Amino acid sequence: MLSQIIETDKQYYMNTFGARTPVCFDYGKGLELYTKDGDKYYDFFAGIAVTALGHSHPKFVKSITEQAGKLLHTSSIYYIEKQAQLAKLLVENSCADKAFFCSTGAEANEGAMKLAKIYFYKQGKPNKNEIITLKNSFHGRTLATVAATGQEKYQKPYKPLTPGFKHVEINDFDALAAAVNENTAAIMMEPVQGESGVHPAKAEYLKKVRQLCDEKEIILIFDEVQTGMGRTGKLFAYENYGVEPDIFTLAKALGNGIPIGAVCAKEFVASGFEPGDHGTTFGGNPFSCNAACTVFEIFKEEKIVENAAEVGAYFKEKLNALADKYDFITEVRGIGLMLGVETKDSIAKKICDALFENKYLTGCIAGKIIRILPPLVITKADVDKFIEVLAKACEEV
Ligand SMILES: Cc1ncc(COP(=O)(O)O)c(C=O)c1O
Repeated sequence: MLSQIIETDKQYYMNTFGARTPVCFDYGKGLELYTKDGDKYYDFFAGIAVTALGHSHPKFVKSITEQAGKLLHTSSIYYIEKQAQLAKLLVENSCADKAFFCSTGAEANEGAMKLAKIYFYKQGKPNKNEIITLKNSFHGRTLATVAATGQEKYQKPYKPLTPGFKHVEINDFDALAAAVNENTAAIMMEPVQGESGVHPAKAEYLKKVRQLCDEKEIILIFDEVQTGMGRTGKLFAYENYGVEPDIFTLAKALGNGIPIGAVCAKEFVASGFEPGDHGTTFGGNPFSCNAACTVFEIFKEEKIVENAAEVGAYFKEKLNALADKYDFITEVRGIGLMLGVETKDSIAKKICDALFENKYLTGCIAGKIIRILPPLVITKADVDKFIEVLAKACEEV
């Protein structure tokens, strides 16, 4: 069965993912994922930080099923009740005053960058159009977000890149300040860099960045596509730092698997978008917005964000205890339930393979970092079981 799926995939699907992890899931429940053969896996990756509520959450399933039977799409030519409700929810729960919906994280970042540019354009400052981002960042796969992403490997085949981007090292304030000039429109960064290995920004650094943006009239954009919606133990990662961005973007967990992205902004910059300046066909439709409204409801009812903070801290403590025991673990990083375990050489790869053999799903970065992003409904008991298997894997390698 699996071999057949792999064959069909090889023949018909564009080979952008290479040799995938050799498993195909049929259904899921909570943290558990099942294959058609009845094999059970434990999901500690949440589809790359997406399924915050775990799989097939009953209330979520009921809500999206009902909405699917009622109305999927009308286009934003008409008013959409759930779109307005979701915007209200985001604004009431964040530092933003307005929201705009799209379908992916990359699209949200495109929207954020366009908003920063048009804000200055409309003030008669069209030259203030450059954007500074960080090295080893990840902002998406569209042409502009590839240019924003500070990693050569994603950019190389697509040159010439969208112009106007500079990249500086994370947590190096002097390098950032030196890169700023009178044409700098925005600084965009992930509060915790995810794809490149779970690297949190330092609080002092972000505070200085905020100050610099205020002094030089620069829009501060936080890409919270991965860190947002409870992943770091706060609804939005910026809350961990006490630093408010002017714009932040969301996607991934916002729809718990239903594609939706958001650009959230303070009023002064949000007003840069006027009728006709930006748009999308799918973004903000009744189906995806209903899904995200339901995510908010369940977050509140089940105290999901609080759980992420509590279990995340517990998880990190347990990982640190393993790091004390095995000197090939060089660092445990991350906030909340966005965790990374760095090892010497390519030991992480061997550990991830061993975890997979034991039916635990995690991510591995460059063979050196184990990336852990479980659904936010995870319990301490789930963590204990995982740590037991991880300890065994550490012992074996
Ligand atoms: C921080 C960050 N920004 C943007 C993106 C791109 O999101 P999408 O794949 O939905 O376009 C990702 C995806 O991993 C991400 O982690």
